[in-house]
Amino acid sequence: MTKERIISQDADEEDTQFELSLRPQTLKAYIGQEKVKRELTVYIEAALKRDEALDHVLLYGPPGLGKTTMAFVIANEMHVHLKSTSGPAIEKAGDLVALLAELEPGDVLFIDEIHRLSKPVEEILYSAMEDFYVDIIVGEGQTTHAVHVPLPPFTLIGATTRAGRLSAPLRDRFGIVSHMQFYTTADLEKIIMRSSQVLSTKIDDQAAKELACRSRGTPRVANRLLKRVRDFAEVKGEKRISLETTRYALTQLQVDDQGLDPTDRKLLKTMIVNYHGGPVGLKTLAANIGEDAETLEEVYEPYLMQQGFLTRTPRGRMATKKAGSWLGLPFMNDD
Ligand code: ADE
Repeated sequence: MTKERIISQDADEEDTQFELSLRPQTLKAYIGQEKVKRELTVYIEAALKRDEALDHVLLYGPPGLGKTTMAFVIANEMHVHLKSTSGPAIEKAGDLVALLAELEPGDVLFIDEIHRLSKPVEEILYSAMEDFYVDIIVGEGQTTHAVHVPLPPFTLIGATTRAGRLSAPLRDRFGIVSHMQFYTTADLEKIIMRSSQVLSTKIDDQAAKELACRSRGTPRVANRLLKRVRDFAEVKGEKRISLETTRYALTQLQVDDQGLDPTDRKLLKTMIVNYHGGPVGLKTLAANIGEDAETLEEVYEPYLMQQGFLTRTPRGRMATKKAGSWLGLPFMNDD
């Protein structure tokens, strides 16, 4: 295994160096997700002591909570290379075999959106994960035969927004399963302070707190809003981002005090006004507001549920009384 710390160059293509530097590179610098970090610290230390590859890791949770960042941190802490890909990017079994064949002992293969792998590709992973080999079929007609390809021991890190989307055989092959949670306001405040330093910007404590409260528990949102608020402060000629500018910028961005954006509000309003609060089916809702059902389910709903604005029931989605009062809408459903 390679001994120096290696930060892979294979990050998402649209990731600029700038974006990368906003990401922590060690478990120590990673803020929040205490339970996940505590467990991983033990497993990484044990694997390093035994000079073995870390067991396969499944990271699941809503988008923007740092699953990709955590995968890079794990590879860095294990002092190994990381190869990054995603479920939809691997079209054929051969594409996966090519990636696996390039790995060195102990390396990490990171597959984002792992629930979107095709079945033939997923099946290749079973023997690769369990016994570190793949059987590939070569030749045509009568000359067809299987070739046994041994692989070095490696660590697969899979990321998904929903662990329940994975087939049981795939899920069962992950020795470490970590659930990423929404961040507390206090942790988001720390992340905003850290990001401000990386961006060489000063921000008042009250402004950081306001931003944290309105970032829907999500570092990706916090960092995006921080950059926009910084733009407003810059244009105003402010040396430090103030609370006043933060509030003004967030109003312009249509992010309310609870961190809800226009799509969140449209979703809740449609449920309350058109469906008396529900229950209403996901697809019906999606068609009503012109959004993709999967995006509603994976990007919007988790935060609305966590905040108590929406519930999922066997008969469909329901808006809560809290949603009605937050939006100032009369609520028809007394269930
Ligand atoms: N930037 C984005 N997410 C972060 C985290 N969890 N810790 C530190 N910096 C971050």
